[in-house]
Amino acid sequence: MIKKAVIPAAGYGTRFLPATKAQPKEMMPVIDTPVIQYVVEEALQANVDDIMIVTGRGKRAIIDHFDRSMEMEYFLKEKGKTELLEHLRNISELADIYTIRQKQSNGLGDAIKYARRHTADEAFVVMLGDTILESFTDKNCAGQLIETYNRIRRPIIAVEQVPTEKVHRYGVIKGKEVEPGVYLIEELVEKPRPEERPSNLAICGRYILTPEIFGYLDKTACGKGGEVQLTDALNMMAKNEQIFAYQFKGRRHDIGNRLDYLKSTVLLALQRPDLKDEFRAFVQEVLSLDDPRRYGLCDTRLLDSILKKDRGEDESTD
Ligand code: G1P
Repeated sequence: MIKKAVIPAAGYGTRFLPATKAQPKEMMPVIDTPVIQYVVEEALQANVDDIMIVTGRGKRAIIDHFDRSMEMEYFLKEKGKTELLEHLRNISELADIYTIRQKQSNGLGDAIKYARRHTADEAFVVMLGDTILESFTDKNCAGQLIETYNRIRRPIIAVEQVPTEKVHRYGVIKGKEVEPGVYLIEELVEKPRPEERPSNLAICGRYILTPEIFGYLDKTACGKGGEVQLTDALNMMAKNEQIFAYQFKGRRHDIGNRLDYLKSTVLLALQRPDLKDEFRAFVQEVLSLDDPRRYGLCDTRLLDSILKKDRGEDESTD
């Protein structure tokens, strides 16, 4: 049984400045929910309710988010907004959340080391705090991974097929398919150049690790970006023991860069029961317009004349 999750949430989020200057990237909302809440909900749905979040300086908002907010609860109760109140309470009550601060931002591998005492002699699931994984089946990504782990009882990493031009953003594995969608890993490379990629199977932010990983992390020198890379420790591990990759049935939403963040917001909004119909109609209408500024205007004459001027078609003298 996997009972513990470790959520690293200590990185600076420089790819999202200025939004992340005074706000953790894990608190960026997708529609109305911070990314890290999607991750915690994924853990809970997979029956993992002991969650350790590895934070860093400037990440207090994460801790507050999973705490109760008495003032807000009182306010919602007064206003009779019981559904919202329930929802808010659930977030803080369903999980046992522990936090620890990484002293210095020194990479994912280093962040995982902070969970050593908490996870002790148990296997645990690592869920990156800035990645939403959408599942195409009734089991979410953590659930699929746990199910596979329970069968093979070895460390296992979720991967997805990515186009060659994107491999440089991820850890990439080389493996032998031993059963459909399950690979025995031979090698892992962190952020390879396209021509050096061992495959197109990229690590997508969910891992089941066993306590042996800590010994390998201790021996891992700084790698890509001058940071301790979990991928490098796993590569060392793969040379000595069997570890596996699992091609999960779903899609990753990479919240770490602007364009993918926008795409994810659109894709998830188009699936939200309370928004999807109106949002779809909106997207279709905007895309049918020659200029998005035209959307929703009651009177288009002003914009028309400006556009005409821009095109040099305006012959008026003023
Ligand atoms: C980290 C890992 C990388 C993995 C990626 C998934 O990279 O180091 O192996 O593919 O997460 O999101 P980061 O996004 O922190 O640079």
